[in-house]
Amino acid sequence: MNILITGGSGYIGSCTALKIIQKYKAKCIIIDKKESSNLEKLTLSYPQNIVFHKIDLCNYSALSVLFEEITREYKIDVVIHFAAYAIVAESEKYPHTYLQNNINSTVNLLDLMVKHNINNLIFSSSASVYGEAKYVPIDEDHPLEPQSFYALSKKVCEEIIQRYSKKGLNFINLRYFNPAGAIGYLGEEHNPETHLIPLLIKSLIEGGIFRIFGNDFPTKDGTCIRDFIHIEDLVDSHILSMEKLLNEEIENEVFNVGINQGHSVLEVVNKAIEIFKNKINPRFKYIFESRREGDVPILVAKAEKIKRKLGFKPKYNLEDILQSAWNYQIHKISL
Ligand code: UFG
Repeated sequence: MNILITGGSGYIGSCTALKIIQKYKAKCIIIDKKESSNLEKLTLSYPQNIVFHKIDLCNYSALSVLFEEITREYKIDVVIHFAAYAIVAESEKYPHTYLQNNINSTVNLLDLMVKHNINNLIFSSSASVYGEAKYVPIDEDHPLEPQSFYALSKKVCEEIIQRYSKKGLNFINLRYFNPAGAIGYLGEEHNPETHLIPLLIKSLIEGGIFRIFGNDFPTKDGTCIRDFIHIEDLVDSHILSMEKLLNEEIENEVFNVGINQGHSVLEVVNKAIEIFKNKINPRFKYIFESRREGDVPILVAKAEKIKRKLGFKPKYNLEDILQSAWNYQIHKISL
């Protein structure tokens, strides 16, 4: 089996490649414009299974040449498209960069897939396409009202993908809620890091100030509520999607990927303090700050469709997420 993974150097892409290799001994052809420590670790562990091409998907002519080369050597069974800029606040500051990068890369990829008769696509979309929830839990029919340029880029990509299905493409769009945690030595690494769980764990271990953005949201304790999904469960949703596409059991679907459970930011902080009590650096403290631009009060998935149509059964809870994120950070420090 040959799987083409764009953005395979990143957090979710590298974890997905790992599980695909472990389960199918597949060849993962990774396209990314960056290398990363996750990719390095993956390549060291599975040198036979990883083929890496450093390339910018926005460079259509270079990508065309690469597709010629790749398709001469491999029959690509599925493309999983992760590559994107994904920081909400940054997208508000640099809308052109975000729209240009996320949309052009997707269009280039789709065009070349169709040209080379590669028909199966899994697209990494985001719960942010829903915007401010009109009701919770949010199902896939909830109106799409993106609040940030990042979310808008994902919505536009979903629409373009839908159009391309008329050209023979079969797709599954996965709308992620809040992935977090680690799979062993592969964990959350963003530069700069903006996500709640890695920042919280780092402050707990190193002893720093953790900032909670906003305690005046219309929620039970005033902090935002999110549906945190363990990275291993999230990866599973891709594996299930892949299997359905390959067995031709599903066509052109959109799924929420969450666990239908909301935790407030304050609950996450308190849970972590409870789990790691004796190990916390005494210099750790948390404070409340003003709201972060672009944050919506509550995002919780109705994850019934993915359960029914893909047989998705998440195995992990918040405690598992925090524990794996902690282990990952400790492992990194000890290296
Ligand atoms: N938060 C803090 N302090 C921090 C970091 C985050 O209080 O230091 C809060 C945020 O304000 C938010 C919640 O924790 O209320 C979750 O924030 P994250 O940045 O971890 O996650 P988001 O909900 O903003 O992001 C998620 C995905 C992103 C995706 C985004 C799109 O994790 O990958 O949705 O909306 F881009």
